[in-house]
Amino acid sequence: MKVLGIESSCDETGVAVYDTALPGAAGLRAHAVYSQVALHAGYGGVVPELASRDHVRKLLPLVRQTLSGAGLGVGDLDGVAYTAGPGLVGALLVGAAVARSLAWALEVPAIGVHHMEGHLLAPLMEDDPPVPPFVALLVSGGHTQLVAVDGIGRYRLLGETLDDAAGEAFDKTAKLMGLPYPGGPQLAALAEQGRAGAYRFSRPMTDRPGLDFSFSGLKTQVLLAWQQSDRSAQTRADIARGFEDAVVETLAIKCERALDAAGSDVIVVSGGVGANRRLRARLQEMAAARGGRACFPRPALCTDNGAMIAFAGALRLAAGQHDGLEINAVPRWDMATLPPVAAAA
Ligand code: KG4
Ligand code: ZN
Repeated sequence: MKVLGIESSCDETGVAVYDTALPGAAGLRAHAVYSQVALHAGYGGVVPELASRDHVRKLLPLVRQTLSGAGLGVGDLDGVAYTAGPGLVGALLVGAAVARSLAWALEVPAIGVHHMEGHLLAPLMEDDPPVPPFVALLVSGGHTQLVAVDGIGRYRLLGETLDDAAGEAFDKTAKLMGLPYPGGPQLAALAEQGRAGAYRFSRPMTDRPGLDFSFSGLKTQVLLAWQQSDRSAQTRADIARGFEDAVVETLAIKCERALDAAGSDVIVVSGGVGANRRLRARLQEMAAARGGRACFPRPALCTDNGAMIAFAGALRLAAGQHDGLEINAVPRWDMATLPPVAAAA
């Protein structure tokens, strides 16, 4: 089954074709992402109305480009998947309207995909995929969640952030240190030059039991350190390293606790922060030490993309699930309310 996937929940337009007849990574026939970063950079954050308008401009050309990259015509598609939420409602509506209309015209089924389920399942697109049950860490700009995955579509929330998401903490910390938007990846790059231990920030909420996170206090600690520092290039890198180590260590401690709680040794990680090199290394080390493994998508599929939507949609469509003719866009959506996918569970 060849499924077109469309992602437009925030500031990236993503399109992909996933073919369920081919195994693992080979199933991804083509994918393309157009990032709006330059459009929003001057505002220091995403401007929802500008995001929607840019999706309108970029989506159809990207669909054509992706289909031609896959060597397919629209008539070859067996289904269309799109991000139905959570996200910016205007941005979601662009993808939903195009996807639903295309499916209607082609007389193929369409399905609205939960953006975070897309992230969660992205590691399963790679070769040698993990098989549920496992624990998933979702770390993006809007979410930080630990989820027990009992099967595809069978998710139990184990813990989540009480304030800032991990990616949000990276972005806000980068901003207060004067790095341009979006700061997360730039802060991570800066940390590469930093010395471990030169600055030590706390590992929030690791001194008590539980699987919830809190990252907002960390940026205040960094702000104080930054204000009191000499602001030299080396100090900047050292502070970035101290911050990154604090986030990575906190996530690693909670992941290990979540594995203990779920009785599992497999941690699956995705979302934008999953592209972080040090987080990948640390979680791999933690999982290997207990005889398990940490699974990530390739870095390009950690951040928002159409491939994860095509893949998650394909699993559900292949199991016979699909939406009605209405156009769905839901800004808030609890992943625990998703129906299970019986065939893959
Ligand atoms: O999943 P994503 O692309 O979009 C959302 O659904 O939010 O995640 C974007 C987030 C941003 O906060 C960005 O700063 C962060 O992921 N991010 C990183 C890295 N690459 C992206 N944070 C730390 N290290 C990175 N290498
Ligand atoms: Zn995302």
